[in-house]
Amino acid sequence: MKVDGSSRRPIEAGADGRTVVVIDQTRLPHEFVTLTLTTMAEAAQAIRAMLVRGAPLIGATAAYGVALAMREDPTDQGLAEAIETLRATRPTAVNLFWALERMRGDLQDQAPSARAEIAWTRAGAIAEEDVAINSAIGDHGLKLIEAAVAARPGGQGPLNILTHCNAGWLATVDWGTALSPIYKAHDAGIDVHVWVDETRPRNQGASLTAWELGAHGVPATVIVDNAGGHLMQHGMVDLCITGTDRTTATGDVCNKIGTYLKALAAHDNGIPFHVALPGPTIDWTVRDGVREIPIEERDGAEVGQVTGRLQDGRIAASPAQPPAPRAANPALSVTLAWA
Ligand code: MRU
Repeated sequence: MKVDGSSRRPIEAGADGRTVVVIDQTRLPHEFVTLTLTTMAEAAQAIRAMLVRGAPLIGATAAYGVALAMREDPTDQGLAEAIETLRATRPTAVNLFWALERMRGDLQDQAPSARAEIAWTRAGAIAEEDVAINSAIGDHGLKLIEAAVAARPGGQGPLNILTHCNAGWLATVDWGTALSPIYKAHDAGIDVHVWVDETRPRNQGASLTAWELGAHGVPATVIVDNAGGHLMQHGMVDLCITGTDRTTATGDVCNKIGTYLKALAAHDNGIPFHVALPGPTIDWTVRDGVREIPIEERDGAEVGQVTGRLQDGRIAASPAQPPAPRAANPALSVTLAWA
């Protein structure tokens, strides 16, 4: 997708074949800053600290992390240690484990001397595959949007779509998952408007989704997380589309905390709730999402703080309220397939 008229991806292989350039998403929307990763440890830290985030992008970054590791130590031990380190960065998005196992499978039977080149090519293939998958999600989702528009009597203004968190191009290698159909609809001249849940506590909606939709010219309005149900009751949401971090073999969907409540509200109001789901996000080993998917529990400090630009220009997190004696911060929730 485009930033200031130039095509950008949140992860790009350096032309030297030894470095990977990522957008530091902790600085958006205040600053557009890129960072060059040169080691596996840097790739792991970029995932851990959420400079890169979103399930497909985490997977692609991990694949490149293995490729960087193979430049450092292509031995069996080097491969095993790199995969262990990267596996421990975040617990829920299954694309991470999918990408690492694919890299392991592609590399373990190769001679160590050949691994660096092969790993670089395979990581690039995972990235390109993600772009193709997400573009196809956009094509399929566009048909849903066209059908929703056709089903409404004319003269009703834009089709209102609610989304949660950021499942746009910043969360993938390109296009996004949930936002891909929206971009394709907008580009096809369909009048769409997006309700963007702010997505506390890290505000991926307000900071990232609103930013990338705005950069592409898609009309969007940020709402507080608790507003969605109210808007649905008043006929102001035509359909919902979210992404997913892990989907079970039975169709349970684990996505950013708050997704479940939006799905319940949509169900209660008879509003279609769609999940834009790439194949690598399916965990075929898991059947019961609530019992079996590990939910990331993040630092409670995130609950009471906001990140913004200080008067001296620095981007910093600062307490928005007096420190709570205790704060819990489960980062994802599961919506059962039947909901
Ligand atoms: O914690 P994050 O920012 O990595 O969470 C991201 C989400 O929940 C996305 O909706 C999900 O990964 C799908 S991204 C296409």
